[in-house]
Amino acid sequence: MPATLQDPFGRRIRYLRLSITDRCDLRCGYCMDEGTRFLRRQEILTLEEIHTVAAAFADLGVDKIRVTGGEPLVRRGALGLLGDLALLPGVRELVLTTNGTQLTRHALPLRVAGVRRLNISLDSLRPGRFREITRGGRLEQVLAGIEAARGAGFEGLRLNCVIQRGVNEDEIPELVAFARDRAMDIAFIERMPLGGGADGGDALPADAVRARVEAQFPLLPTLEDTGGPARYFRLGGHPTRVGFIAPMSHDFCAGCNRVRLTANGRLLPCLGHSGAVDLKRVLRARPGDRQALEAAILGALRRKPRGHGFQAPGETRILHPMNRTGG
Ligand code: GTP
Ligand code: 5AD
Ligand code: SF4
Repeated sequence: MPATLQDPFGRRIRYLRLSITDRCDLRCGYCMDEGTRFLRRQEILTLEEIHTVAAAFADLGVDKIRVTGGEPLVRRGALGLLGDLALLPGVRELVLTTNGTQLTRHALPLRVAGVRRLNISLDSLRPGRFREITRGGRLEQVLAGIEAARGAGFEGLRLNCVIQRGVNEDEIPELVAFARDRAMDIAFIERMPLGGGADGGDALPADAVRARVEAQFPLLPTLEDTGGPARYFRLGGHPTRVGFIAPMSHDFCAGCNRVRLTANGRLLPCLGHSGAVDLKRVLRARPGDRQALEAAILGALRRKPRGHGFQAPGETRILHPMNRTGG
């Protein structure tokens, strides 16, 4: 029987998010500042170190691993790492969050490596606006990637849309119709004060997004759960689920089941706090010492706070560069 990880509030931790690189081929303003400095090679964990941390977590009872970035598919060796993670005993679900730009090449190999579901970021269906939001991205590349993913046999595909006032709020119905026509899920995410942020875009609360969806599409409540923070509705008559992720307006901290490893090897018990434990230091000072690693993990878990401390909108305080935490 695997061990179980619990935090001081009795929450069971079974979901590990691994940011495997802080680099990205896009530059979304809510994620990175224009002049973001990427980490140097020695600062980020090696693929072996990431695997060692994931294996320790699997032994401690984590059964879901999500690989994130930056953009995880720009890291050389990402596919090999994913294949190895899929083989970890106890890992029931290996999933990936991506910006979709590399999927024409990588969708099928990802599926073969054992990735079950993809969450693909897509905030706009208009090429000019997409270019602005991502500071230079090509929409057609991501749309081709989505098509490749649809053909690759994943168990689930979800679009992730960060809706910002005055930026893309007018596209909510089009984004839902896009997902519906392709039998994909879609999640609307409230923008969090995580870095970047210099462009000052404003979160549209999930209830307002939902009202706009419901004005055009019937939404049926469900209790379905992907083990993440989204609350799902089913689109009447369709397989599509519409999820709402509302860290700002209806935080989901009471049910939190996750921690994240940043690209530079810090174990972050909560996205909304700066406290982290430096696992890279442990891995490099005591290579091969599984006990020391587990002790550091358990120490981080003891520090998991009850909930995030995001300020009210308008008092934005950037805690972490999003491209290093992976969200
Ligand atoms: P599923 O496995 O499909 O449920 O995915 P997920 O929603 O857990 O992962 P994804 O990477 O698609 O993240 C969607 C959004 O949820 C991103 O904006 C994340 O930053 C945010 N998110 C995920 N976990 C947490 C969390 O613990 N706290 C907060 N505040 N936001 C989170
Ligand atoms: N607030 C909310 N979501 C964000 N993402 C990136 N930055 C932010 C932010 N500041 C989203 C991305 C991606 C997911 C991992 O997190 O769009 O879909
Ligand atoms: Fe890149 Fe994703 Fe950050 Fe956009 S949100 S800059 S796609 S890592």
